[in-house]
Amino acid sequence: MKLIIKYTWRYKKYLLLSLLGVVGFVLIQMGMPTLLKYVINDSLMADNPTVLLPIMLLMLGITVVGIGGEICMSYANSRIASNVIRDIRSDMFVKTQSFSHAEFNQFSVSSLLTSTTSDAYQIMIFVQSMLRSALITPVMTISGFILIINTNPRMFWVVLGATPLLLLGVYIVSHNSMPYSRAQQLGLDKINLNMREGLSGLRVIRAFGNEGFQAKRFEAVNEEYCGVSKTVFRIMSIAQPGFYLLFNAMIVIILWTGSQAIGHGTLDVGTLNASIEYVFHILFSFLMMAVLFIMYPRASVSARRIQRVLESTPSVQENLESGVTEAMEKGTVRFENVTFSYSGSEEPVLKHISFTAKAGETVAFIGSTGSGKSTLIQLIPRMYDVTEGRILVDGVDVRDYNIHALRDRIGYIPQKAQLFTGTIADNLRLGKRDATREELEHAAEIAQAADFIAQKEGGFDAVLSESGSNLSGGQKQRLAIARAIVKQPEIYIFDDSFSALDYATDLRLRTRLREEITDATMLIVAQRIGTIRHADKIIVLNEGEMVAEGTHQELLNASGIYYDIAVSQLSEEELR
Ligand SMILES: Nc1ncnc2c1ncn2[C@@H]1O[C@H](COP(=O)(O)OP(=O)(O)OP(=O)(O)O)[C@@H](O)[C@H]1O
Ligand SMILES: [Mg+2]
Repeated sequence: MKLIIKYTWRYKKYLLLSLLGVVGFVLIQMGMPTLLKYVINDSLMADNPTVLLPIMLLMLGITVVGIGGEICMSYANSRIASNVIRDIRSDMFVKTQSFSHAEFNQFSVSSLLTSTTSDAYQIMIFVQSMLRSALITPVMTISGFILIINTNPRMFWVVLGATPLLLLGVYIVSHNSMPYSRAQQLGLDKINLNMREGLSGLRVIRAFGNEGFQAKRFEAVNEEYCGVSKTVFRIMSIAQPGFYLLFNAMIVIILWTGSQAIGHGTLDVGTLNASIEYVFHILFSFLMMAVLFIMYPRASVSARRIQRVLESTPSVQENLESGVTEAMEKGTVRFENVTFSYSGSEEPVLKHISFTAKAGETVAFIGSTGSGKSTLIQLIPRMYDVTEGRILVDGVDVRDYNIHALRDRIGYIPQKAQLFTGTIADNLRLGKRDATREELEHAAEIAQAADFIAQKEGGFDAVLSESGSNLSGGQKQRLAIARAIVKQPEIYIFDDSFSALDYATDLRLRTRLREEITDATMLIVAQRIGTIRHADKIIVLNEGEMVAEGTHQELLNASGIYYDIAVSQLSEEELR
């Protein structure tokens, strides 16, 4: 609720407009029966047509004001609701952009998607109803009660007696539907997750002939959601007739007592008619409020989910205001006794890693899969923060940097090349918005991407589909490398970025890279000894520990693990 109020309160101007509209709306609802009372009593019953005209004119006036009020109210309410949902969605987007991998693990991507789409939508619907009832109900009830007390005090007690019953009904319904509403949103998460996996993994699913199994899995979560929804609807379907029953019972009581009073001559027809209208409007606004309370659990679940995201503090602090932007050194990376465990797991993935990469050096990492290579280099651009020890880039602890200043220094090419919808040029410009066409061409040439870009229809303006799925694995890797080159960083980080290239292309690329980029530091993760044998320093990782460090020649003699890898890949001749 706090969240909803916070966002709604931003639009005070429209709230005021809405309130004005409500006054007009209530005027028409309450004014009409009052005037009708005079028509019946003073004109029809008294057989006096002369008073009719002024009353009719007044009615017309009220109608015009009332319609104006309703228009104002609807306009203001929809403006507020649309603005609120827009604000929530953009705040969600900005927030998720600041998340590190740790938060994505915590919230899960599909849950974040449900939150920005469905949860935000729930809130919009709720805000719209809330604005209507929250303003109408009090104004309507108070004015209705005042009118009733003035015209027919006995009725007042009847309405007052029914109020606790109504409130109790509302409480029971909202209390019982709350857990199901929560289950509904969680079910939606699961549907999203399965749908996403089913779509993005379609090729694999087909290749393994696994469609039936996946369909069953989806059916299960879909069925679960369906079951919960049915329960929610069942509660609603009992609640609504219940309220109407109460409603009609009241009208019957009023008619009954009223007709008796008319019989005794203590009440006139006009007043009875007006009282019924008043009571009707009071109860109706109560009912609107009741619907709001029934909607509340769902909106509250949604709001809480959104709030949890918005209020989470990213584990990686960005230091946008106070962070360091300048450093004394250029292009150095230093690990000091770094230990790291993923949140939620006890066993560290990296243990006591220490090494230094001097400016302009090439440092390579090798080790079996799962030994922690990707984890190690992701710590440098702060995809995660170290658990113990520290990492210095250009002599400054990475945690002290303004995060943009840190990441500007680094060209990171992830293990799985990630491209975006848009042209090839757009993708390359990610690292440098204002890069000229010459710069792009130059980078593509170094990355050995120029040839296949030229062959694509449109060249640099060729459009890539979602995550670059119209390119081959090796082409994606080369574009990812070109993208980093365009950025001209002082530190390059290649995470197994040559793995999808044939050895000749790999060699040409590395040769061109070294010719063109002489002063940048390079950290290279590789599986192939050939890719890294000329590195200034090679670090061998095994189960998160540094087991050896040295040049290719040194390691051949000193490290058994390295020697074994080398023997499995190189010929006798190359070994020597
Ligand atoms: N997000 C994560 N949460 C928890 N554990 C993780 C996560 N990512 C990786 N791990 C674990 O950390 C260990 C090291 O993974 P890492 O990706 O660093 O290995 P790697 O050396 O790069 O392997 P590869 O050569 O296959 O790329 C693995 O045991 C892996 O299961
Ligand atoms: Mg890896």
